[in-house]
Amino acid sequence: MPKGAAGTLTALVLAAGQSKRMRSATIKLLHPLWGRPMVAWTLDAVQALAPERLLVVIGHQAAEMRLALDNEGIRWDAVVQDAPRGTGHAVMCARAHLPDTGGDLLILNGDLPLLTEGSLRSFLAAHRKAGAALSVLSTALADPSGYGRMVRQGQSLVRIVEERDATAEERALREINCGVYLVQAPALLAALDDLGTDNTQGEYYLTDVVEHLALSGETVQAVLHPDAGEVLGVNDRRELAAAAAILSERKNRALMTAGVTLLDPARTYIDPRTEIGADTVIYPNVWIEGTSALGTGCTIRPNVHLTDVRIGDRVILKDHCVIEQAEIGDEAQVGPFAHLRPGTYLSRQVKVGNFVETKKTRMGEGSKASHLSYLGDAQVGRDVNVGAGTITCNYDGRQKHVTVLEDGVFIGSDTQLVAPVKVGKGAYVGAGSTITQDVPAGALALTRTPQQNIDGWVARKKKQQDEES
Ligand code: UD1
Ligand code: CA
Repeated sequence: MPKGAAGTLTALVLAAGQSKRMRSATIKLLHPLWGRPMVAWTLDAVQALAPERLLVVIGHQAAEMRLALDNEGIRWDAVVQDAPRGTGHAVMCARAHLPDTGGDLLILNGDLPLLTEGSLRSFLAAHRKAGAALSVLSTALADPSGYGRMVRQGQSLVRIVEERDATAEERALREINCGVYLVQAPALLAALDDLGTDNTQGEYYLTDVVEHLALSGETVQAVLHPDAGEVLGVNDRRELAAAAAILSERKNRALMTAGVTLLDPARTYIDPRTEIGADTVIYPNVWIEGTSALGTGCTIRPNVHLTDVRIGDRVILKDHCVIEQAEIGDEAQVGPFAHLRPGTYLSRQVKVGNFVETKKTRMGEGSKASHLSYLGDAQVGRDVNVGAGTITCNYDGRQKHVTVLEDGVFIGSDTQLVAPVKVGKGAYVGAGSTITQDVPAGALALTRTPQQNIDGWVARKKKQQDEES
């Protein structure tokens, strides 16, 4: 069956390289960029074009790449390049999978996380309009160092030369190769046969295809992209940080356009996957990571760190809260200095105050733990008041156990609840108690020893000490 009918698109992403410039045990394409492997961002833009087939050339750390891409839920087919012998060789390895009839073939480096659907679409339109055999995406840089340079004769692209193979005159060219190509597969396949390794790195350069096709009289064009911020590659950690900042800026701009107030966008770090409702106000130094959703009209005060959270409407998170994998209902108030760990579920209008830690804990509507508590593996009903310094003793050294506080319970300050234990509906626990048995509904539980007052004790003690000295 012929592959790639006219009008269809096949995508081939080159992701087998070693990436020495990262100086890392991990290949650059797997370095996290806003919590996802960098290559996932590149693939987002490619997938937005809905290619008939997405091929990814893997080699270095192939097993880790497979795992990472599968984790991202991407539908892709692997092409294995056993040794990294250059970008041209990577494409040769995919030969058997390439379209053999019409249809467009998009080839791109995996290290282009800033690429947008829009820039790929206009590149595709320019390629189709020119009826070109090969189109290469380029941009102009004030400092082009490290990139392949586009060598033109008049307007026509005749060659791409890598920096280390370039003459001084060629190095002065500021138009660079972005590493994104659209090509007619039959023309490409013919040119691949002709690739050599006569260059300083002794590699098969995909870029040499340009000269081959230009010399054979095919239409070869460079398509200049006006915004370098969308087409730059990431080769080292400086570029990785720059890419993270650009993605962040884009996200912040989109949020503000949609009605979210960022008091200091340059100091607000919001994962591009985050959803935030209108009229939410975010103070400086807030970090939101992972896939989080925040409702409308919330206030997120400085130094709050959120990871994978779901937050309702009109919620107030005061300064310095750390909240991960937790769900918070409408009009709840948390912090300052609260730590909500995975499995925390706060219903509407719950209040969790300073120095409170929760884990695998549900709190029903209107319940409060305002100060200095640890609630782990706790099921807290509605309108429960957890006094200052209450601790669920959920761990017996081997296993975790559940504490149940039914609706309307009142726990006095400095109480230890030794789980498994249940406090029945509306019951009270006196301050300073250590609760080891269930408390029936409506009862008062007290475990503290009765207080004694010894009259005149201080004066007698002092007198005794004076006599001894
Ligand atoms: C390449 C281009 C250069 C361009 C630059 C844009 C070539 C010869 N040069 O250079 O003109 O300006 O990209 O960023 O193509 N890869 C493989 N197998 C290999 C080698 C690389 O799959 O054997 C993959 C890498 O994982 C990477 C991509 O190809 O995703 C580009 O490789 P990289 O080493 O970054 O190429 P550059 O030297 O930057
Ligand atoms: Ca590169």
